[in-house]
Amino acid sequence: MTNWQELEKKYFMQTLERVPLTIVRGKGAYVWDEEGKEYLDFVGGWAVNSLGHCHPAVTRALTEQANLLIQTSNQFYTVPQLKLAQLLVENSCLDRVFFGNSGAEANEAAVKLARRYGQLKLSGAYEVITTLESFHGRTLAMVAATGQPKFQQSYSPLPTGFVNVAYNDVEAIKSATTERTCAVMVEPIQGEGGVNLPDDGYLAAIRKWCDRKGILLILDEIQTGIGRTGTLFAYEQYGVEPDIMTLAKGLAGGVPIGAILAKEKASVFAPGEHGSTFGGNPLACAAGYATVKFIIDNNIAGKAKEVGQYLTSGLEKMRPRFPFITDVRGRGLLVAVEFNSDIAQSLVMACLERGLLVNKLKPNALRFMPPLIIGKKEVDQALAILDKALGSVAK
Ligand SMILES: Cc1ncc(COP(=O)(O)O)c(C=O)c1O
Repeated sequence: MTNWQELEKKYFMQTLERVPLTIVRGKGAYVWDEEGKEYLDFVGGWAVNSLGHCHPAVTRALTEQANLLIQTSNQFYTVPQLKLAQLLVENSCLDRVFFGNSGAEANEAAVKLARRYGQLKLSGAYEVITTLESFHGRTLAMVAATGQPKFQQSYSPLPTGFVNVAYNDVEAIKSATTERTCAVMVEPIQGEGGVNLPDDGYLAAIRKWCDRKGILLILDEIQTGIGRTGTLFAYEQYGVEPDIMTLAKGLAGGVPIGAILAKEKASVFAPGEHGSTFGGNPLACAAGYATVKFIIDNNIAGKAKEVGQYLTSGLEKMRPRFPFITDVRGRGLLVAVEFNSDIAQSLVMACLERGLLVNKLKPNALRFMPPLIIGKKEVDQALAILDKALGSVAK
């Protein structure tokens, strides 16, 4: 049998420490390795596999589209792109869409759009205020936007035009706002930075401030969007509407895609001012349409809310037996559990051994981002494995 993990060491750029598992097949909430061992997947492609692995609706849409038309240039009209755009607009507070290929690319486009808005409406304002512990992607500009020095320090000088301020601190945003500011960009819930929930009123206070200053509010819903937190978009739970919203991850059930959506007043790109070769290609958009339609038609977001509460309360119930659990937090099926010491890596390995995939969020925290189609049965199975894993590291 080919030793794929050896090939990775030899041929692949060593950009991350992988979990020693080669996944060859997936179905629903489960994946299998080369030897046929089954794993319950609570990583979900980092919050991507919203409908699980190889969901029939997604596979069917991909197969049909692959036999019809895979790619043209964006000079021409293609149907899946327009169907997906209509579906997103009709189910959100935004008016127009542009498709790209990834989250970072969507955020880049959002910042370009905000800068263009600044040029046209705010006397050339170009600066975007973002928050510490945020995560907006890996391109150079998004590394500058991401308020985490560990992602920034290897790449100086960083592009200018970003100010990183404390999260959950609207006064910090107010103090950082100048005549150069064109937008504030935040994740409704910080995902990668720790599954950090906004304090009551934080997002509404930012919205109010942006309105007062005439600047734009960009919500990065790349991780929180498409049902993940219990509503189709997380903003719905906080009583705010963004001027610009970015999506990616769960949008096309596993196929690479990114999108920016904007209110009419912020849709200021003119022909030629932005573009993409692959963005909005028929294959990705057919998968996107099938995914979002299924999620809406089957109230998958509502189910994610219910199952997410079941998961969170199951984790809470473990706390008396494992007092080294210091926090359980999350919304819907974006959940983190934190410990009083750096045991996350040992737990990832202990769960792996027992057939459960979980994500190390920080040295002392795990994150769960399972497919949104899981039920209580899968949660019970995951909790039982986690219980044993916690018992093994506690010894
Ligand atoms: C909130 C958020 N924004 C942006 C990104 C970047 O997305 P991508 O990796 O598709 O570029 C991520 C990825 O984790 C994310 O969680």
